[in-house]
Amino acid sequence: MELLKEKILKEGSIVGNDILKVDSFLNHQIDVSFLNEVGKEFKKRFNDVKIDKILTIEASGIAIASIASQYFGNVPVVFAKKSESKNLDKDVYETNVYSFTKGKEYSVKVSKRYLNEGENILVLDDFLANGRAALGLKDIIDQAGANLMGIGIVIEKGFQEGRELLQKNNIRLESLAILESIGNNTVKFR
Ligand code: G4P
Ligand code: NA
Ligand code: NA
Repeated sequence: MELLKEKILKEGSIVGNDILKVDSFLNHQIDVSFLNEVGKEFKKRFNDVKIDKILTIEASGIAIASIASQYFGNVPVVFAKKSESKNLDKDVYETNVYSFTKGKEYSVKVSKRYLNEGENILVLDDFLANGRAALGLKDIIDQAGANLMGIGIVIEKGFQEGRELLQKNNIRLESLAILESIGNNTVKFR
């Protein structure tokens, strides 16, 4: 997606050797008109499948999924919860996700009310790095007996393991931009 690449080059910054900071439009401040274009692009990529629901993970995925939903006929958006919440139903699908950045596992939960057998689910998220969060969402979808139709990612870090892990699990992946490398303070796209 050309607009996304331009935006990354113009507004992104590289932190350390492997983190791309895009706080000005994706991870802190939200550029709504830009996310509308992202939503349209996801619809174009997944136009061949019927989607009943979009699943994402808090926090950054929520804005992306909610805006995209409008191009999928306003299907419901469910976000998996990472935080311990007193309000969450007792009856949940739960899985553990290992985070490389945090160096530990965390638990991800979705209430059984909001994912049902036979539903066609599209997973959307901001970044694909090692793919552990994405695979965790697949596990939750499997537990529900729903169908994972594909995963849509705004920015894929092509130099990490995510794509390979998803391919091994036969998961369709559509990334709107793929980073080949972000070394030497230079972003290279695939
Ligand atoms: P993974 O193995 O599941 O792929 O993820 P990892 O633990 O490496 O990443 C942890 C968090 O950092 C995730 O956000 C992920 O989206 C984000 N992340 C990974 N690489 C980058 C990057 O280069 N730039 C930015 N901006 N984010 C990155 P999270 O913990 O789910 O937080 P939230 O932002 O969704 O709240
Ligand atoms: Na995320
Ligand atoms: Na993130």
